[in-house]
Amino acid sequence: MGNFRKVILAYSGGVDTSACIPYLKNECGIEEVIAFAADLGQGEELGPIREKALLAGAKESLVDDLIEPFIKDFAFPAIRANALYEGKYPLSTALARPLIAKRLVDIAIERDAGAVAHGCTGKGNDQVRFDLAIASLAPQLRIFTPAREWSMSREELIVYGEKYGIPAPVTKKSPFSIDLNLLGRSIEAGPLEDPFLAPPEEVFQLTSSKEEAPEEPQELEIFFQNGNPIAIDDEALDPVRLIRKVNSLAGLHGIGRIDMIENRVVGIKSREIYETPGLLLLIKTHQELESLTLSAEVLRTKATLERQWADLVYQGFWFSPLKDALDAFIDSTQSDVNGSVKVQLYKGSLTILGRQSSTNSLYLPDICTYGSDDKFDHSSAKGFIYIWGLANRLWASVNKKK
Ligand code: ARG
Repeated sequence: MGNFRKVILAYSGGVDTSACIPYLKNECGIEEVIAFAADLGQGEELGPIREKALLAGAKESLVDDLIEPFIKDFAFPAIRANALYEGKYPLSTALARPLIAKRLVDIAIERDAGAVAHGCTGKGNDQVRFDLAIASLAPQLRIFTPAREWSMSREELIVYGEKYGIPAPVTKKSPFSIDLNLLGRSIEAGPLEDPFLAPPEEVFQLTSSKEEAPEEPQELEIFFQNGNPIAIDDEALDPVRLIRKVNSLAGLHGIGRIDMIENRVVGIKSREIYETPGLLLLIKTHQELESLTLSAEVLRTKATLERQWADLVYQGFWFSPLKDALDAFIDSTQSDVNGSVKVQLYKGSLTILGRQSSTNSLYLPDICTYGSDDKFDHSSAKGFIYIWGLANRLWASVNKKK
């Protein structure tokens, strides 16, 4: 069953998760807190995180590099699913949570801990994603959620932390709440809570504004194999290098800025700004290649399941039987998604210039052409339309006589 006095805490290094450490020890009867932080390519110094956790009273502080599984096992399935929550948000934050939860659970089991903890508040989506993922993976584990229980204001929290050796933030706190990983940034709160206010330029870090973007457009060709991106122009790239490269190219040209009012799981509307340059470009190009290589019926059915896939991932059901079943459907379609898509990036807009597939294109010249080498049997159309419209014709002959 594991030791209930030993907890693995999902740790970010911020004041909130730091305060969780003394809180767990003093208010929840925990003897041993092991802090775990995931490197998801956020590009921040993860070194100081270790010391911070120990200073706050953690027995041990672990940092794991999860960048590769994050891209291969979480971002690539989202690309294959063309996943855009509410038609806009490519789930850059949502995709990270089940991976962090999975590692948290693995560490708890390895170290015979009976509980895990996270520092999410009661208002957001991330608490839902952590709690549901942990429950699906290891229902026997207890979950401690100090930030959902303490009723401390930010100021009180800083004072509480200082009592236990957690230094108050030195820099003036940004008014924004930011989440960052290799797939993108999410920015909310502060002045952005006015949904009519255009996002100030200072919120953006991964993408250029239209004005700053290069004056020259840039063309790129993205290659896919079995629905996964594998190369840019002539360069084959492993998943992580590919994402990094496409992030910097798309970001430079101002692609991937999203401003939306989204619907949170807990029923609250939220104004979010996202910067997801690479992921958005890869979803758009992947979707384009599918239009060439998948049949009409598969495309239509897949589109409805894609929406459901994005909802499930947003809502915390990454580890669930329905998500597994949708993955099986999606994966079964992707062996046909081979080829490349040519795009132009220019001042914040992404234009598809062309698509090709030497092995899977269903755009067959003999049949599709309007030229003289057309092999389509025009005379068959007459009988087809006769039957296709028969029910309508019968109805009209009865009802439209007068
Ligand atoms: N609303 C987004 C989501 O639920 C991102 C939330 C991330 N947090 C933040 N501080 N912006 O996936």
